[in-house]
Amino acid sequence: MPLQIGVLTISDRASQGVYEDLGGPAIRDYFAKRSVFAVDYFSQIIPDEIPAIQTALIEMADDRCCPLILTTGGTGPTIRDVTPEATENVCDKILPGFGEQMRTASLRFVPTAILSRQLAGIRQQSLIINLPGKPTAIAECLDAVIEAVPYCLKLIG
Ligand code: MTE
Repeated sequence: MPLQIGVLTISDRASQGVYEDLGGPAIRDYFAKRSVFAVDYFSQIIPDEIPAIQTALIEMADDRCCPLILTTGGTGPTIRDVTPEATENVCDKILPGFGEQMRTASLRFVPTAILSRQLAGIRQQSLIINLPGKPTAIAECLDAVIEAVPYCLKLIG
């Protein structure tokens, strides 16, 4: 059975169609190139709004039963960046090590990695991981934590 991954692009501009979604395709590319596990996707693009993010995360976790949900975008310091807040609101538990590890690894590439407030958490049997919006950041962050993902899914599944 392929792993069902929820891919949630969070971007005002991409959701309005004024900007091409680069984050969602970068996540799919990551798994296609590395073929870490067999995967299948449910993808959505939504604006930087807490209620919309929460609704999408809950639907992916509870209704579509995605064991892994990856968000991209909205982790920075601007007023519209609310992905971590919405993620925290729907999670039963936060796994602080994921955010710490992604930031630490990313700081080797760019000093601005410190600006991402990305986190990860568990909602029932789903692991939700926030990734920044930039395609290169997506691969750099996933590389930093991917080894822990299968065991985490086994523990919560
Ligand atoms: N992490 C990595 N690995 N590579 C990057 O280029 N960009 C940073 C940071 N994390 C970056 C990164 C920058 S410039 C910002 S503003 C934050 O991610 C937040 O990005 P987001 O708002 O698109 O989520």
